[in-house]
Amino acid sequence: MRISTQVVVVGAGPAGLSLANLLRRADVDCVVVERQGRSHVEGRQRAGVLDYAGTRVFEEWGLADALLAGMPADRMLEIRVDGEPHFLDVPALSDGRAGRIIPQQVLVARLIDIFVKGGGDLRFDADEVALHGLDGARPKVTYRGPDGAVHEIACDYVAGCDGYHGVSRTSVPAEAMTVFSYDHGIGWFTVLADVPPPRHPLLAVSSHGFAAQFPRGPAASRFYLECAPDEALDEWSDERIWTQLRLRLGDEALPAGPIGERTVVEMRSFVVDPMRYGRLFLVGDAAHIITPMGGKGMNLAVADANVLAHALRAAVHDGDEDRLAAYSATCLRKVWSHQEFSRWLTEMTHEAGNAALAGTFRRELARARLGRLFTSDAAARAFADLMAG
Ligand code: APR
Repeated sequence: MRISTQVVVVGAGPAGLSLANLLRRADVDCVVVERQGRSHVEGRQRAGVLDYAGTRVFEEWGLADALLAGMPADRMLEIRVDGEPHFLDVPALSDGRAGRIIPQQVLVARLIDIFVKGGGDLRFDADEVALHGLDGARPKVTYRGPDGAVHEIACDYVAGCDGYHGVSRTSVPAEAMTVFSYDHGIGWFTVLADVPPPRHPLLAVSSHGFAAQFPRGPAASRFYLECAPDEALDEWSDERIWTQLRLRLGDEALPAGPIGERTVVEMRSFVVDPMRYGRLFLVGDAAHIITPMGGKGMNLAVADANVLAHALRAAVHDGDEDRLAAYSATCLRKVWSHQEFSRWLTEMTHEAGNAALAGTFRRELARARLGRLFTSDAAARAFADLMAG
C-alpha cells in the first residue's frame, strides 16, 4: 500500500492538527498519521487557553470563525495571596490583546472536523509508525493500519508532531541535537472536577503551598496543587484534596464535586536544538515541553505550526527553502522566551508561599516581585505582554 504526498504529519494533537489545517489552506498536500483512535484524541483534556498570538494565527489563515465560535475572551487573571485577591486585566494591560478560553478537546475536535470535512487525509489507529530516509531527498513514513496491512507514504517533508513520547525525535541521531532539560524541583498534582469554574483563572499563593483553579467549560474546573516531587497519587484522598484546596485558595466555601481525572504533572522543561534534522521538522511537544505555568504548551505548538506552514508553502510552491532553513531558530526564540516566562512565574508563585522550598529570604524576594505586579503599571504591562504571547 504505497502513496505519495508532499508532507507527512506524524501525530494529531494540537500541533499536528493545526499544521495540517494550515497546510490545506496553503495548498500543500499532507497526510496525517495518528497512533490513537479519534475518540481518544478528541477526549484528551489538557490545555484551556489560546493566547492572543494563537488567535491571530487562526485569524490570519481564515480559521478563527469556525474554530473559536462561542469561546469567551480571556480577561482577568486573579492572583490570590494568603486569601487576598488581586486582579490583572490582561487584555487592558496589553492594548486589547485578548486570548480565548477554549478547552483543548474543543479545539482539537473542531480542527479534526474542519480538516476531514474539507477532504483532508487523517489516518487514526496507525500502529508502528516509523520514519525512513530523513537525511535523503525523499523520506518515507510507514505504519501498520487497523487492517493489519503495512502502509508506506513517500513525501518531501516530515512534520514530527507526535509529542514528547513520539517516534519522531527518537528517529534523530543523538549527536545531531543538543538537549536542554530542567527539573523545577517541585511536584504538581492536578484534578479535573465537576465544580463550577472560577470567575477568572486563579493562581493562589499560600504558606500551605501553591494552588490554581482554571475554568474547563461551563461546569468544570481544573485544579492544581503543589506537592512533593515524588508524591504518589494515592497519597491524595478526596478529603485531603478539598481540605488543601480550601486552605490554599483561602475559600472555605469552595464546593466539593465529583473528580473525573487525577494526574501527577511532571514539572520539567525540555528543549532540543535544532528542531530539524534533514527533512524532518519537529513541532510542539516533540521538540519542547514546558510546565503548565503560564499556559504556553498548546500555544507554542500553534506558533511552531504557523512558522512551519509558511515555510513549507514557500518551499513547495516557490522552491524557496530559506524559511525552512530559519524554522528552528525562529521557533526557538519564542520557545526560550516562554520557558523563561514559565520559570519566572513558577519561581515567584511557589517561593512566595512555601518557605520550605527556598527559604525565608527568597520568600520575601518573591513577595516583592508579586507586589510589584500589583502596584507598578509597567511591571503589570510587561507581564500582560507575555501572557498575550
Ligand atoms: N505515531 C503516531 N502518532 C503518535 C505517536 C507515534 N509514534 N506517538 C504519539 N503520537 C500522537 C499522540 O497520540 C498525540 O495525539 O501524537 C500526538 C501528540 O500530541 P501532544 O502530545 O498533545 O503534543 P502536541 O500536539 O505537540 O501538543 C502540545 O498541547 O496539550 C497541550 O499543553 C499541551 O504542550 C502540550 C501541547
